[in-house]
Amino acid sequence: MTDISSVARLSEPLKFAYWVPNVSGGLVISTIEQRTGWDFEYNKKLARIAENSGFEYALTQTRYAASYGADKQHEATSFSLALLAATERLKVIAAVHPGMWHPGVLAKYLITADHISNGRAAVNIVSGWLKAEFENFGLEWLEHDERYVRTEEFIRVLRGLLTEKNFSQAGKYYNITDFTLQPAPVDVPGRAHPEIFFGGNSTAAQATAGRVADWYFSNGKDLEGFKDNIAGVVAASGETRRGTEGALPALSSPKFGLNGFVIARDSEKEARDTLREIVEKAHKPAVAGFRAAVQEAGASTKDGKGMWADSSFEDLVQYNDGFKTQLIGTPEQIAERIVEYKKIGVNLFLTGYLHFQEEVAAFGQDVLPIVRELEADLARKNGIELDLSQAPVASAEVAA
Ligand SMILES: Cc1cc2nc3c(=O)[nH]c(=O)nc-3n(C[C@H](O)[C@H](O)[C@H](O)COP(=O)(O)O)c2cc1C
Repeated sequence: MTDISSVARLSEPLKFAYWVPNVSGGLVISTIEQRTGWDFEYNKKLARIAENSGFEYALTQTRYAASYGADKQHEATSFSLALLAATERLKVIAAVHPGMWHPGVLAKYLITADHISNGRAAVNIVSGWLKAEFENFGLEWLEHDERYVRTEEFIRVLRGLLTEKNFSQAGKYYNITDFTLQPAPVDVPGRAHPEIFFGGNSTAAQATAGRVADWYFSNGKDLEGFKDNIAGVVAASGETRRGTEGALPALSSPKFGLNGFVIARDSEKEARDTLREIVEKAHKPAVAGFRAAVQEAGASTKDGKGMWADSSFEDLVQYNDGFKTQLIGTPEQIAERIVEYKKIGVNLFLTGYLHFQEEVAAFGQDVLPIVRELEADLARKNGIELDLSQAPVASAEVAA
């Protein structure tokens, strides 16, 4: 128990999230049939299916202008709030760009959403890559690492306003003086405040997440790639970032979420054929346009590391590198792969699908029970019991 104990807590069941398809065109840039809607009615039904299928979280995307073919988009915070109001247990994470929001306005929104949903609101702070979105709005586009300077300040202000009275912070981007937000967020046992997720892969992103995020989200990665990410985040987080909790050593870093595109089929061949068809039918001009735009991300850093910096054409067809995680095969194969990632420190899987409503339900029915069995075995081998009381229960109401 070397790297496992330092990052993941074996008694804790893995958590599952899905990408909310609040932009048009599905999660792959391909003309293959995708039975996935982007409208609210589709998403309301999907959210209810997900919370009844063992999913704990949903993540919206923030997008103001077309990119990767997603030519229509619903705004992330309002969409998230509507999904919270339409569900009972699902936690909905709204994606937000610091460059577009003031942290005080976001804190106020988040507290209101938290009260409406009885403590289920969360945010994903993303530093952005689509330069045209900012420039055409007349907003300043900061150089790559400077975006993370602003993001770190933004998160410190956000957390301060969510947790403290008479909060003040003077900085380069934000100056807050003696501010108290009333009401405070809902008091949820085990949660200090609405959870703050953070997405990014570059060296600057890892360091920022290590210092200030509750959760670090990564684009799709193979096992080695994800180990590197974890090491970068943990190194930045420092030993004393959090107190000791649970049976395993103190969690000295954020928890880790990893993106993966799931293709679960009856046979491995069927799943691989589906992947092949997605890539063969890729919308080439849209993938090329996306590749050009994301040069503002990892590729623009000094060390050339970060999101999409080493992505192939095939990787980019799922615009968050979801094929790299290789959740592709039979339910057994996928469950085994998922638990391999748990061993190296993943706490949550963020999942995407071709046909969301059907496949989210199928994931809960076919893949999740095997994951739980494998997790229980892994825990037992290390002398620990898997605490299933912490996992959301799948319910009989699922009907896609
Ligand atoms: C899980 C996840 C979700 C993201 N969601 C969004 C989003 O909704 N909108 C957006 O503009 N960028 C999103 N991003 C991308 C970030 O804004 C940022 O451009 C990217 O992580 C840059 O990575 P880098 O620091 O490696 O260059 C997301 C990233 C991750 C990992």
